[in-house]
Amino acid sequence: MSVLLTGGAGYIGSHTAVSMIEAGEKVVVADNLSNASYESLRRVQELTGAEIPFYQLDLRDERAMNGMFERENIESVIHFAGLKAVGESVEKPLLYYRNNLDSTLTLLEVMERYGVRNIVFSSSATVYLDGNAPFSENSPLGCACPYGWTKFMIEQILRDAAATGKLSAVLLRYFNPVGAHPSGRIGEDPSGVPANLMPYISQTASGKREKLTVFGNDYPTRDGTGERDYLHVCDLAEGHVAALRYCREHPGAEVFNLGRGQGVTVLELIEAWNRANAMTIPYVIGSRRDGDIAVSYAIADKAKALLGWEARRSVEDMCRDAWNWQKQNPNGYEL
Ligand code: NAD
Ligand code: UFG
Repeated sequence: MSVLLTGGAGYIGSHTAVSMIEAGEKVVVADNLSNASYESLRRVQELTGAEIPFYQLDLRDERAMNGMFERENIESVIHFAGLKAVGESVEKPLLYYRNNLDSTLTLLEVMERYGVRNIVFSSSATVYLDGNAPFSENSPLGCACPYGWTKFMIEQILRDAAATGKLSAVLLRYFNPVGAHPSGRIGEDPSGVPANLMPYISQTASGKREKLTVFGNDYPTRDGTGERDYLHVCDLAEGHVAALRYCREHPGAEVFNLGRGQGVTVLELIEAWNRANAMTIPYVIGSRRDGDIAVSYAIADKAKALLGWEARRSVEDMCRDAWNWQKQNPNGYEL
């Protein structure tokens, strides 16, 4: 019996593959490689010694999906696949709705056809309505971009599908995953200029970017810069192992925040990086970025209580591991 990781060649999927294999699971990966490289999976296999059946397919391709479910003995699915760039989703909303919704619907239809009942879904803290942090799973919802709405809609689709009694769904709202596997063999490999803070810091550290621009220092936070709940990607990966265990044992749908439950400002993250890696990241203060919110962090109690999961790694661990990956792979997976 195997666990299918859709989008498993990507950043979070590849780290989760390692944790799942370490937990004794067999994994199969399906990914169209629109935002990933097969090299990540080659390295996961090298790190774990496991063989991972890989299907380069688009989840919307029902024939290809049937073929994979026909060949593999799939028992559960962790559904990472999707487009995730906030800015691009504002420019190309139909691309985002088409890709993220259609791929989920096709996946669910094929799962039903093959009697697969368990799904863990990658949702996001972006579904929370701004202004109410810290967010509990019961905080009011509302999204600021099409990407966020695709998460909101897919959560609803999964709740409705689970209400029929034919599906068990766990919806994971990730906060800000950062860092890399401590080996430095797998990590985050953004294409072009990084939109997110941690990869931008990494590339500034390596000299690829001249300096970091801090997007605003006039927010109502400790030092005026944006506050987020950064979470080591290996903690997040382990959260999926716990979530899948829960999913198998509990029919219906349940939602969990995965975060550390602590807000860290942009300046605090820069300081943590400097401390962890004995360097000084050059930065300037710029204006606010459109669409950014001041504060986002989790109340993470529910995951601890019901999944028995909590993040163990520190902000310094995240910075050290991000730098280790960046140093070893200045051009990401490009060989
Ligand atoms: P990623 O882009 O590295 O991984 C997503 C993978 O899905 C990619 O490998 C891509 O090639 C694949 N994919 C996209 N559309 C597909 C399709 N139609 N068919 C097959 N494969 C397809 O992103 P990630 O950071 O690993 O994120 C994984 C999931 O977690 C995404 O759903 C994302 O929205 C969600 N998420 C990420 C973050 C974050 O900060 N990284 C935060 C919250 C939620
Ligand atoms: N920031 C900078 N300079 C940069 C990049 C970011 O100062 O070059 C700041 C941002 O203004 C924000 C903080 O760093 O205050 C974090 O920004 P990120 O872009 O790293 O993360 P966001 O919280 O804005 O976005 C993340 C995911 C989105 C998701 C969102 C809400 O990237 O996919 O969380 O959950 F929608």
